[in-house]
Amino acid sequence: MLQDNHGRQFHYLRLSVTEACNFRCQYCLPNGYQGPSADQFLNLSEIHTVLTAFAGLGTSKVRLTGGEPSLRRDFTDIIRATASTPGIDEVAMTTHGGRLQKFASEWKAAGLDKVNVSIDSLDPHQFAAITGHDSLKQVLAGLNTAIDAGLNVKVNTVLMSQFSEGRLTRFLEWLKETPVTLRFIELMQTGDQGSFFDNQHQSGVPVRRWLTERGWTPLLRHKAAGPAEEFYHPDYAGRVGLILPYSKDFCKTCNRLRVAANGKIHLCLFSDHGVSLQPYLKEGDVAGLQQYLQQLLVSKEATHHLHEGMTGATSNLAMLGG
Ligand code: GTP
Ligand code: 5AD
Ligand code: SF4
Repeated sequence: MLQDNHGRQFHYLRLSVTEACNFRCQYCLPNGYQGPSADQFLNLSEIHTVLTAFAGLGTSKVRLTGGEPSLRRDFTDIIRATASTPGIDEVAMTTHGGRLQKFASEWKAAGLDKVNVSIDSLDPHQFAAITGHDSLKQVLAGLNTAIDAGLNVKVNTVLMSQFSEGRLTRFLEWLKETPVTLRFIELMQTGDQGSFFDNQHQSGVPVRRWLTERGWTPLLRHKAAGPAEEFYHPDYAGRVGLILPYSKDFCKTCNRLRVAANGKIHLCLFSDHGVSLQPYLKEGDVAGLQQYLQQLLVSKEATHHLHEGMTGATSNLAMLGG
């Protein structure tokens, strides 16, 4: 069992399989990705070692992230390896959605259960301005393919002050008929954003009030439910979630660990350095890795320090897939 000194248990692994991405979201990779190619990160056998070690210590949910995980040519094999690891009963991914139309059914057949898609605007021009890609139509088509393939679908939308209330209203309209959970996420500060964060960060707290004023009711929160507060409305097919990492108690329900595509483990999204697991991965040493992980977790801190003046910044979001 992976447990820290603050009573939190870790059943959820976020595994980044590449740092590469072909989008250039303003808040993430505004100048585009310029590192090694997608396939030059943890190989399938190293991924297998990570999965076996974590599953043996109680991990039951794995989210494959990037960069953009689907840029890996062996991504379907990675899904298959994850789904067939004993103990792992939920396989999810986070994606920009550009390849869903082509691959959703193949990934579902390989064992994928859930997909989270980033869509920051339903206006094609705004979407292109944010992501550097004029592909809203393709992403929405992919989202529908994923729903039809039987995948559980969520949408991630980052709150930014450059957009007016109209953007949020349009999302709510869309949820009338679309059976997905859409989560509004507070923009997080990353190391390479410059003044973007200062200009664009917007608290999600007023959005909570805005929703309740429109008849959205908060759902009771399950202890292991993850970072989003969820709301439902009887007239809507979809749900709304709020992810407010700048709220004081956000970290209390932390249930996840992160392994980056270079084989480093990060105990928190906001702990910058990470510790390399490579010596164990190279050797395929599952038992050694498990022992090491258990020792490491004892040092996980109770919380990040963002709400103490918001000075902490992560440089890991692009690398760790959020
Ligand atoms: P579910 O399994 O569907 O709940 O997904 P998820 O919210 O864990 O994953 P996703 O990749 O869709 O992440 C959504 C947003 O939540 C991203 O902006 C992440 O950066 C943010 N997020 C996820 N986990 C953490 C965390 O531990 N700390 C912080 N600060 N943000 C997180
Ligand atoms: N702040 C908040 N969310 C972010 N994401 C990426 N960078 C940031 C940031 N700086 C979101 C993306 C994606 C998820 C993995 O993380 O929109 O949906
Ligand atoms: Fe790519 Fe996701 Fe970063 Fe956008 S947020 S540039 S889609 S990794």
